[in-house]
Amino acid sequence: MDPVSVAAAAALLSRARSLLVVTGAGISAESGIPTFRGAGGLWEGFRAQDLATPQAFGADPALVWRWYRWRKKICNDAQPNAGHHAVTALERAIPAFLLLTQNVDGLHPRAGTRQLVELHGNIDTARCTDCGFKRPVPDGDDVPVCHLCGAPMRPHILWFGETYWDGILERAQAAAQRAEVCLVVGTSAQVWPPVAVALAAQSAGAHLIDVNPERTDLSEQADVWIQGTAGAVLPALVSATGRSG
Ligand code: OAD
Repeated sequence: MDPVSVAAAAALLSRARSLLVVTGAGISAESGIPTFRGAGGLWEGFRAQDLATPQAFGADPALVWRWYRWRKKICNDAQPNAGHHAVTALERAIPAFLLLTQNVDGLHPRAGTRQLVELHGNIDTARCTDCGFKRPVPDGDDVPVCHLCGAPMRPHILWFGETYWDGILERAQAAAQRAEVCLVVGTSAQVWPPVAVALAAQSAGAHLIDVNPERTDLSEQADVWIQGTAGAVLPALVSATGRSG
């Protein structure tokens, strides 16, 4: 981890009155949850891209549920790491705060972050395919059925080829306009809307900080790129800002 980049980012954060944080799968890697595009993303020969679609659910809902329950167990068994806790510390220290996470693993709320938008849904929630009613994913192997209307339920996850839920990107864009700093952590920047929000924040005047062990297209655009893992860099940043909440 380059101390000059950490000091530069800490200087920006220590002055910020409004912070937008955007996280991706990389922040949960040190909790043992595989990232999407890295190695280890295969399950019984399937790629995520082959199962996380409305078409896959239509063809074989039981298979898709088996995959999500397997992923849910990994997420539920995992613990938030130092990176998640550092985000919570920033929330407590900075007056205007919003976290946009692409992760469905629930580790941010479990680490205590409260002002967050789960852009891609939540692994613990099932949603009716017909009336939209939501409830916690029940145990067992069956395709859950809606208590209200009897239709099959699906994971409450944004799948490939689907559009974002009503209002969610508008809320993100509004936060982008207000942010003085936008801190992006652990995303490959391959999925456009979250990247667009971060770039919109930068265009509106926010300083853009990217934390990732690998350089991405977003690192190229960032004012500061800190090469390193979330679990190492974020606590160092919090402590260098003196804003531990
Ligand atoms: P990816 O799997 O595409 O990228 C993970 C990123 O995390 C990579 O850039 C890694 O270099 C980085 N990384 C790995 N370990 C890290 C660590 N310890 N600390 C920090 N960074 C680390 O995951 P996302 O960018 O989140 O969408 O993927 C975005 C979306 O693509 C997902 O939410 C999912 C998928 O399609 C939906 O399901 C709708």
